[in-house]
Amino acid sequence: MKRIITVLMLMVTSFAWSGDAERGKSISGTCVACHGVDGNSNVNPVWPKLAGQHAQYMERQLKLFQSGDRQNANMSAMVVGLTEEDMADLSAFYAEQKTSIGAAVPELVELGKTVYRAGLKDRKIPACIACHGPTGQGNPLTGYPVLAGQHAAYTAQRLQAYKNGEVVVEAEGTTGQIMAQVAQYLTEEEIQAVSSYLQGLTKAQ
Ligand code: HEC
Ligand code: HEC
Repeated sequence: MKRIITVLMLMVTSFAWSGDAERGKSISGTCVACHGVDGNSNVNPVWPKLAGQHAQYMERQLKLFQSGDRQNANMSAMVVGLTEEDMADLSAFYAEQKTSIGAAVPELVELGKTVYRAGLKDRKIPACIACHGPTGQGNPLTGYPVLAGQHAAYTAQRLQAYKNGEVVVEAEGTTGQIMAQVAQYLTEEEIQAVSSYLQGLTKAQ
């Protein structure tokens, strides 16, 4: 029974997100300057890595940039002419790339790991692991993005934006504002620590 359900779930996902990665690659030329040839951006650490991110999550973010619900000066200009097909294909291409993993700052690992794996119960900060998984791979079906290997500077900036209430629309199917609630009590030090921990997190850990 379990196997049948898994197969059905895989079928549903591949029908819903059947972006053409080959075509995505062929139209990704305008993205290279900031996100790198294979989605591993390496020029500015607040330009996120896209390699290995879930296609559904990226496709949705591209739509949010296009509708103006997610605002960023760099990205808003990039999505103006994209069709739905373009967004699906670009997302399929980046999802297939391999994430390059960075390193954590050793002094920050302990605090970062505690926040990520256990949360800070007395401060109402939930464990990130509950949704983003033990190795930071998230979950494509529930809209939880991959965090492992991402540039710490981008992750920290994103957590700060959630904390400041600047991210208004969240993953489809969620009750909304999940990350705003998660991030509201995090201190700057905890944000830096968990972001650094994630930069060094690998699938194999
Ligand atoms: C001029 C630099 C630049 C270019 C070119 C660019 N991006 Fe981005 N991209 C960014 C920045 C900066 C962010 C982070 C925005 C933020 O902080 O909200 C981003 C975020 C994203 C995200 C969301 C990632 C996440 O984890 O939430 C996706 C998906 C994305 N870009 C796809 C693309 C695609 C596809 C192209 C080409 C059509 C492209 N970008 C071109 C700078 C750029
Ligand atoms: C209850 C589930 C849940 C928990 C717990 C949770 N997250 Fe999230 N997280 C999400 C969802 C859903 C999104 C996507 C939100 C959106 O679409 O903007 C997200 C997005 C993010 C992003 C943005 C990634 C990107 O590429 O832009 C970061 C960073 C993040 N979470 C970090 C954390 C950290 C650190 C913790 C623990 C302190 C945590 N999350 C706990 C559900 C969760």
